[in-house]
Amino acid sequence: MSSAIEPELLPLTAEEGPAGLTVGAVPLTELARRFGTPLFVYDEEHLRRRCQEAVAAFGRDNVAYASKAFLCTAMARLAHEEGMLLDVASGGELAVALRAGVPADRIVLHGNNKDEAELRRAISARVRHIVVDSFDEMDRIERLHATGELPPAQIQLRIAPGVAAGAHESIRTGGSDSKFGFGLADGSATTAVRRAAASPAMVLEGVHAHVGSQVLDATELAAGAAAVARFAAQSGVCRLTVGGGLGVVYEAGQSAPTFAEWAVRVRDAARGAGWDGDVAVEPGRSIVARAGLTLYRVGTIKHIHGVRTYVSVDGGMSDNLRPALYASRYEAFLPRSPRSPRPLRARLVGKHCESGDVIIDNAALPADLQVSDVLATPVTGAYGYAMASNYNKLPRPAVVFVRDGHARVVVRRETEDDLLRLDTDAAPVEMSVRSGAGELVAARQSSV
Ligand code: LLP
Repeated sequence: MSSAIEPELLPLTAEEGPAGLTVGAVPLTELARRFGTPLFVYDEEHLRRRCQEAVAAFGRDNVAYASKAFLCTAMARLAHEEGMLLDVASGGELAVALRAGVPADRIVLHGNNKDEAELRRAISARVRHIVVDSFDEMDRIERLHATGELPPAQIQLRIAPGVAAGAHESIRTGGSDSKFGFGLADGSATTAVRRAAASPAMVLEGVHAHVGSQVLDATELAAGAAAVARFAAQSGVCRLTVGGGLGVVYEAGQSAPTFAEWAVRVRDAARGAGWDGDVAVEPGRSIVARAGLTLYRVGTIKHIHGVRTYVSVDGGMSDNLRPALYASRYEAFLPRSPRSPRPLRARLVGKHCESGDVIIDNAALPADLQVSDVLATPVTGAYGYAMASNYNKLPRPAVVFVRDGHARVVVRRETEDDLLRLDTDAAPVEMSVRSGAGELVAARQSSV
């Protein structure tokens, strides 16, 4: 595996020019120089084409971009402009989508523990539907409706179909032992349908399931679709959503189904299970992953004789938690010479204060890699920035969209002031309850 980086890992408009690799006709090394590193770079043309392909495969009202994969106002607007619905999974994601100008009737709300404020905001904004996850959530919706201030909520019911898939235990969701949804196996799903159908607070339009994420085998996605479709057909609802989960290629040699193949497989599976309506989906990763890459600058190269080489860059687990969390694999290349073979084996690490801060273990890198080089990790557009943190008080990177020779900053880099913006010098607030109980515990402790 010392060959050059595979074009299938790069954004669609990637090309080699005199200044090395360009994306959107902008040299990556120039982006690093102008906007600093670490930097998330998205190929806007690629993002738009992926949205268009998904809409073409499933239909305008049948595909919601799962914004948890990567959300900012520019991304919300782009997905909306390309005809996608937006799936949000919290009040925060809902707020960003609404502030971006996405109409509420193009937004669907998810979450296994939505609080009353999130539900109130979604219902009063009249989101397209809420995917209801539990009986406790139904209680909350009914309480809110009983105030007389809100219309009935349009809902789909999240089902745990007993089929789980996905690249890692943490991202498999659809099994019977799951925090998400009403179980098919124990009859909860049937009870939930009856309760929702009878409630004046809810308009039950459909059922929903999501079996897991980074699924490369369409057969698994089809199995999940079949299980929930059978239940949807029996329940007499009019909408069926089979979630997201379509995997992407992170390393050379993998392959992933296309949107068109995914559509055929889940539709066939749903038909086979007795469902004759549309099938809706919620792709996240497969829209944004390959469109994005991360640029780092190499800071140190350390050879430990007889052990290994460490290459440290100026980001790490604060901008890409996936290797630490899911043992996810990535590749790396030098934008200045994208066709270089990569015979050097090294552990590519970040700058955080722990040994688990590994971006790529046993990375294949060009032999002439040097300190100060700009290094890129491709296919980092999904769940990278979305899960970024300020660990070790690193400012979160900027995000730029590139297209037709232009770059626009859609999320600016954090500053030192941003790192301090939540700290306060607030005066202490008197909170103790002077019941004497504290003294009792103290007295007991001193007698031990
Ligand atoms: N719909 C629902 C209800 C979901 O829970 C998810 C993802 C999606 C759609 C989108 O799935 P996708 O098409 O992106 O696979 N942080 C993890 C992924 C967690 C996915 C959670 N739910 C990772 O970095 O792999």
